[in-house]
Amino acid sequence: MSTPIPSLADAPPVLCVHGIGKTYAEPVLADVSLELRAGEVLALTGENGAGKSTLSKIVGGLVTPTAGSMNLGGAAYAPASRKDAEALGVRMVMQELNLLPTLSVAENLFLNRLPRNLVGWIDRARLRENARHAMAQVGLDAIDPDTLVGTLGIGHQQMVEIARNLIGDCRVLILDEPTAMLTAREVDLLFEQVERLKARGVALVYISHRLEELKRIARRAAVLRDGRLVHVDEMANLSTDRLVTLMVGRDIGDRIDLGERRIGEVAFKVSGMTREPVVRDVSFEVRAGEIFGISGLIGAGRTELMRLIYGADRADAGSVSLGREGGTPEPVAIASPSDAVKHGIALITEDRKGEGLLLTQPIAANISLGHLRAVSSKGVVDGRREAALARQQIDAMRIRSAGRHSRCRNCRAATSRKW
Ligand SMILES: Nc1ncnc2c1ncn2[C@@H]1O[C@H](COP(=O)(O)OP(=O)(O)OP(=O)(O)O)[C@@H](O)[C@H]1O
Ligand SMILES: [Mg+2]
Repeated sequence: MSTPIPSLADAPPVLCVHGIGKTYAEPVLADVSLELRAGEVLALTGENGAGKSTLSKIVGGLVTPTAGSMNLGGAAYAPASRKDAEALGVRMVMQELNLLPTLSVAENLFLNRLPRNLVGWIDRARLRENARHAMAQVGLDAIDPDTLVGTLGIGHQQMVEIARNLIGDCRVLILDEPTAMLTAREVDLLFEQVERLKARGVALVYISHRLEELKRIARRAAVLRDGRLVHVDEMANLSTDRLVTLMVGRDIGDRIDLGERRIGEVAFKVSGMTREPVVRDVSFEVRAGEIFGISGLIGAGRTELMRLIYGADRADAGSVSLGREGGTPEPVAIASPSDAVKHGIALITEDRKGEGLLLTQPIAANISLGHLRAVSSKGVVDGRREAALARQQIDAMRIRSAGRHSRCRNCRAATSRKW
């Protein structure tokens, strides 16, 4: 590792990882050494696929390293499972939510410690009470603890996952992209909890691509690139540009110039869109060339509105109109997502892994799925045309994978274009 780790003179490290490596088919982590101190937040950042989650899972007991050793509170630490790690006070909020959708919020929160009454039955009243308390900490007071987790939106599920890890004793807490699905209000609530844990001497690792969040919350930052730790420094010494350069390994130069934007005629119009009780009488117009933002808190109905427009859910009332060149927008019938696609409407889902992709299918199949007509003749997919389309999109989106045949769950999009 090129950069010496700055040490705090005031506290011994809670967790040390030394020379950690992990190899699957190829090495994904190599020679990572880090120290984590009580009461600090260490930002862990890096491009997609850099190895952040793998490192977290090693610390959290979900993945066994192929090289290196760890030390927790002065003793050798080699957890065999997540349960092992949790028993020693090492907890993690996973990037991929780890909840049981068919159980209630309360049951998910207290799965390993369900309160029992004298005869050994689950004490439902106490469970509900405890759940309410845990949910209030992250601002989920409005949700009934008996709600099934599977019926919650992904943002709320993320808050449940966070609440679950704030319960009980913990010495080390890893937060792996906890705010990816959250809005500013929930981020503030989460940060309040982080401050509370810091004050209690918990050591935190905070993983995010949102550099402004890292600046707000972390004292030090560690940057992973292609499985190697390339830099560790005080946050105060790192500008955003410097962090990005460290992450991608080269100067990314000027930000992308989006050019001049010309706003044209009304191209898309939504009128009176309603599905009780979540979406009520929503109307708006978007002009050609315009980017129209839709904002609101979790649960405000943003996702539901988009699903109605896309025909994924049936509306009680409302219509979608599309503009023709030079003409006024005319209503179109959208009863299903395939109708929407036919009319040239695309939706990138909020929960891409859950709703947007077929993770077990190859990248090429996922890319062509919405364009089957473009790659098939007489109802049969033409492999060559599908491959050509896949190559073109893999290139355009800089999708990192072993090739178009690899399954979707094993690929990553390079993120350097995010900035
Ligand atoms: N179980 C696995 N089998 C094979 N390869 C894996 C496995 N898990 C992760 N990888 C690979 O290891 C590399 C690091 O993945 P990891 O999920 O740790 O990255 P990350 O930094 O968390 O990325 P992101 O920002 O997208 O969350 C990737 O190339 C990934 O495809
Ligand atoms: Mg990750």
